[in-house]
Amino acid sequence: MKIVFINGSPKKKLSVSSYLLGIVRLLVRGEVVSEQVRNEGDHKRVLESIRDADTVVFGMPLYVDGVPSHMLAFMKAMEKFCIHNNICLKVYVVSNGGFIEGCQNRALMQVLENFCNRCNFQWCGGVGIGGGVMLNVMRIMFLVYAGLFILNTVTSGLTASLPIFVEQLVVVLFFSLGAFFYCLRMGIAVNKGATCGVKFTRILLPSFLFILAADIFFVIISIFQGGIFKGWLSRKE
Ligand SMILES: Cc1cc2nc3c(=O)[nH]c(=O)nc-3n(C[C@H](O)[C@H](O)[C@H](O)COP(=O)(O)O)c2cc1C
Repeated sequence: MKIVFINGSPKKKLSVSSYLLGIVRLLVRGEVVSEQVRNEGDHKRVLESIRDADTVVFGMPLYVDGVPSHMLAFMKAMEKFCIHNNICLKVYVVSNGGFIEGCQNRALMQVLENFCNRCNFQWCGGVGIGGGVMLNVMRIMFLVYAGLFILNTVTSGLTASLPIFVEQLVVVLFFSLGAFFYCLRMGIAVNKGATCGVKFTRILLPSFLFILAADIFFVIISIFQGGIFKGWLSRKE
């Protein structure tokens, strides 16, 4: 059984979509191929890759409450290619948005389901995740914690550094639990060729804390990218 994972994020590295697809992939057995669609230049290669596939798992960001336009272009090409070559696929999708509510991915799921109906594919379900950016920040922070843990173990010994590391690990795991659970569940469904329904989840942080953390995060980012008031006060073209 050949399974093609298609990352639909235009980011070259550290995309949330690649992270989430990586979690789904943990439990998937068989011939697994990873592809990425960033622009039209990728179409031919990715379409050839799905020619002999049984299953496609899309991972994509939510743009303006829907499917990113470069992915819509790919899906149009895929529809033509698959109908012409009589290719029948099982399709899953993991999507994520920056806003906290996972159910904002609902319209995207409906687009994917309609796409499957039109192409005679089997729509096997999806996971829509809210707070994707924050999940990604947490995974990067976890890597930093792991580095500090090694450093602390060398300098102060394992007994001093282990409790702090375990605490940080538990916090990261807790906030990411919903995403981990549904992505792993999808991995099991992909193996069985079963449907997994459409599920929505989010970073497990209360919304008022999310807004506070997101505000602080974007203020810091905007300062690094040229000063907080620069964008507001600069003359518009
Ligand atoms: C053009 C654009 C539109 C976006 N629109 C939405 C949106 O409507 N809702 C939302 O929750 N996030 C939106 N986002 C945020 C992305 O979905 C979010 O950053 C996501 O984690 C990116 O995933 P990736 O790293 O896999 O590309 C938008 C981002 C961009 C660049």
